[in-house]
Amino acid sequence: MNASEIRQKFLEFQEKRGHKVIAPAPLVLENDPTTLFTGSGMQPLLPYLLGKPHKDGKRLSDSQPSLRLQDIEDVGDPRHTTVFEMLGNWSLGDYFKKEQIPAFFEFLTEVVGLDPNKIYVTCFIGNEKYGIPKDVEAAEIWQEVFKKAGVDAKIAEIGSAKDGDERGVMPGEHIFFYDDKENWWSRGGGIETTPIGDPCGPDSEVFYDFGEDKQDVAKYGKSHPASDGARFMEIGNQVFMQYKRNEDGTFSELENKNVDFGGGLERITAASIDSFDVFKISLLKPIIDKLEEISGKSYDNNTDEMRIIADHLRGSYLLSAQGLKPSNKQQGYALRRLIRRAILKALDLGIAQDFISEIIPIIAENYKDLPDSILTTREDAIATLEKEERAFRQTLNKGLKEMHKMIEKVGSNEGGLTGYDLFKLQDTYGFPFEVSVEEAYHQGIKLSENYKEEFDAALKEQRERSQTASKGMFKGGLEDHGETSTKYHTATHLLLAAIQKYINPDARQHGSNITPERMRLDFNVDHKLTDEEKKILEDQVNEWIAADLPVSFREVEKDYAKDTLKVKAMFWDKYPDIVKIYEIGDTENPVSREVCGGPHVEHTGQIGKFKIKKEEASSAGIRRIKAVIE
Ligand code: ALA
Repeated sequence: MNASEIRQKFLEFQEKRGHKVIAPAPLVLENDPTTLFTGSGMQPLLPYLLGKPHKDGKRLSDSQPSLRLQDIEDVGDPRHTTVFEMLGNWSLGDYFKKEQIPAFFEFLTEVVGLDPNKIYVTCFIGNEKYGIPKDVEAAEIWQEVFKKAGVDAKIAEIGSAKDGDERGVMPGEHIFFYDDKENWWSRGGGIETTPIGDPCGPDSEVFYDFGEDKQDVAKYGKSHPASDGARFMEIGNQVFMQYKRNEDGTFSELENKNVDFGGGLERITAASIDSFDVFKISLLKPIIDKLEEISGKSYDNNTDEMRIIADHLRGSYLLSAQGLKPSNKQQGYALRRLIRRAILKALDLGIAQDFISEIIPIIAENYKDLPDSILTTREDAIATLEKEERAFRQTLNKGLKEMHKMIEKVGSNEGGLTGYDLFKLQDTYGFPFEVSVEEAYHQGIKLSENYKEEFDAALKEQRERSQTASKGMFKGGLEDHGETSTKYHTATHLLLAAIQKYINPDARQHGSNITPERMRLDFNVDHKLTDEEKKILEDQVNEWIAADLPVSFREVEKDYAKDTLKVKAMFWDKYPDIVKIYEIGDTENPVSREVCGGPHVEHTGQIGKFKIKKEEASSAGIRRIKAVIE
């Protein structure tokens, strides 16, 4: 079966089980402060998973195009892609484990036709600290389901994935218990990092076995479902969403127990043709074939490059067919990055001419089944991408000219071009380092002996310059990155947030100094703080510490931080275009959000007890608090 057929069969299968097939959400999200793109099938359904009634009932299903840019560096291996489709079905407080598990197994074995002997599954081993029991129920349901298919499935207790690398799979084992790193699902990952207020729960993942010959023991240890390597591939995940994380960090049962199932369309299709390489499936193979034709080179000898180009152009098509235009901001920048990376990889294959217009129609044909409600601007996609390709080639040509000017200047007899020269080409003309190196090679131009180290040094220097700027006032004398100082640093953010909450919403940090013994924060407030006010601040900080809030950072456009996220800072002019922001608590509605270079603790529970020691004047209109952690 090809991917389109599997998508259709899945939706039909779910419809027969009483699900309403809903339209997928757009990939490109607008005005969502937490994320730029839809990254999973459950994301658009979050309010309903938390209890809001859905107009289409309690059983829903769709195939959701998703984008995970965080996986971009992994693209090139046999299974990672930036965009993918997630087949999904949901029970909103309706059926639960004993309906979900057999149904998914039936879909895989009877509709897709997978061999039950090649299916392996994982379940949650439980967590003592939070009182979450081991999911024996799911494991027992699985045993039953396997038994009906003629497989006597044995259970293995693994714990952490690493432990499994020693023992691998013993004969007959098909069901594996792992800890929360593998079998707990929340939008924040494992149990400790589950965001406050989010639905979450144990999950049961399903893997396909491509055969023992795919295991690479020297590199990854013995294969088992959660290990790295090519033998096992996760093809679906059933989350038993039965908990919600509370403000104080504990978990309580949701009133409605939900099922959140997500399965990778590409991966299920790859399993259906028994190919561990997802780039062999119908949505990707025709792109690879065309690349072989255009470049005159083979996929077997240029696998990584061709996978990257195929993935990135597919992503570029899906984004531009939803109306996104390449730009230097946010989502538009992500699109630009995909296109440019694809063009550079094509250069590695010797494709130096425009080629995007030859590839995109193939991708468009593959996606003709996706609804118009998602691909709203299919017709414009080719023109958009062609235009960007032309512009980037102009940048490359301009960079090339500058490079040749430089070469003339240094002459052929001296040390050749240095890494600093190559850095200037990249920094000023957007001419990428790898392209310079390649060009120098083709033209027989000498590069200095240490050009790579020189380039790295120039890059590092620039990063440090911009980081210093981005810390601005916030660098505030963090003298070392020792553990205690890091705790004080996070406590400083909490204290400022408490001041803004109770005393002066416009308070800003006017200086800070941290030593391993204490923290000091200067801020604008027009009066001496009363004892009562000091107590309120202290209590609030300690309350946030007790709630064990997650601390996270991300890098965003400066304008976005300032205008959309409304981050309060003093020195916007001094910051670079991309700033690092730290958020404490739920990223949608954090208790603190500041521009900052870090470092910080991972969660506030690590800080300890906070105590204000002194409050005094620093200068006119500026007060100073000294505080300690006990
Ligand atoms: N929401 C689950 C996942 O993304 C199904 O894996």
